[in-house]
Amino acid sequence: KTVENGSYTWSSPSNIALVKYWGKKKNQIPENPSISFTLNNCKTTTTVSFSKKEDSDSFSFDVFLDGDKKDGFKPKIETFFKRVETYLPFLKDYHFKIETSNTFPHSSGIASSASGMSALALCLMSVEKELLSDDVISSTVEKSEDETYFLQKASFLARLGSGSACRSLEGDLVVWGEHANIEGSSDLFGVKFPHQVHDVFKNYHDTILLVDKGEKQVSSTVGHNLMYGHPFAQERFKQAHKNLEAISKILQEGDLDKFIALVESEALTLHAMMMTSMPYFILMKPNTLQIINKIWAFRAETGSKVCFTLDAGANVHVLYPEKEAKTVLAFIENELAVFCQNGQYINDHVGFGANLI
Ligand code: PMV
Repeated sequence: KTVENGSYTWSSPSNIALVKYWGKKKNQIPENPSISFTLNNCKTTTTVSFSKKEDSDSFSFDVFLDGDKKDGFKPKIETFFKRVETYLPFLKDYHFKIETSNTFPHSSGIASSASGMSALALCLMSVEKELLSDDVISSTVEKSEDETYFLQKASFLARLGSGSACRSLEGDLVVWGEHANIEGSSDLFGVKFPHQVHDVFKNYHDTILLVDKGEKQVSSTVGHNLMYGHPFAQERFKQAHKNLEAISKILQEGDLDKFIALVESEALTLHAMMMTSMPYFILMKPNTLQIINKIWAFRAETGSKVCFTLDAGANVHVLYPEKEAKTVLAFIENELAVFCQNGQYINDHVGFGANLI
């Protein structure tokens, strides 16, 4: 089928890992399985407009962020296009205009790669779907199989853009990486956590404290590479497998004390890996530690089940159950906001994945 032009818009959320992905093999294959909460408010909306071009010699695209042309993003997208070209053979036949915007403030230190790459992958899958829509093969496929194919392939493509992006398409919990106890799990794409989750985790909250809004000190590519030849790498990968099995049980049973211990340990282990690599990095800031200590003190004083997790940076994700929302928000405003840059934080909660707009 010849399609001259068209346009698709997808909005895709960010996600926060509970068991962390840190270390990869060739082709964005993770060294260990990971699991994340899909977020709701922190998201990227991307429109891909495509128009047929004369030749099919090379990739042709332009990128805009909030309406401004961003040539600085082009190398990352070029790399992505190269990686996915074999799976999307039409990429060189069209010129693409990629317009993107994030709900979270630009350079807030919140990585937009997960939400951004998943939104882009979904747009490209919509293009593929249109191009294949007259194809006999796809018309013989059942609708549900069709949807599974669409989401799995989109997650597969997103992974090739940025590993953790493959966990941003669905919600509320997504596993990426093969694990014997998680049915259907794969190194190639994210899958929805296959078990019934305890009610206490419904609408779990994540308030992101913006401690340091600067550029990331260590890109995740550099970070993952630090795990090559890292003295503790193999033990860490084993531990992540064990932790995934443990958290699977915790999520079903609803034991918040065990949840806290596992999630905080994962966050600190991620940072420990960076402190013990060569070269070594300390990605926490003094205020990161102030916040962690405040959270621990608050928990000891009040019996609250609030806990923290960290990405590869100084910002703190504060996780807490829906029923504690009011008290924890007051605690954040009164005691933690002072440690944030310009007092800034973002309230989010668990969400259900990407949407076609
Ligand atoms: O998706 P990447 O390559 O940017 O790696 C993300 C790694 C962490 O955010 C630190 C952990 C995770 O599992 O999301």
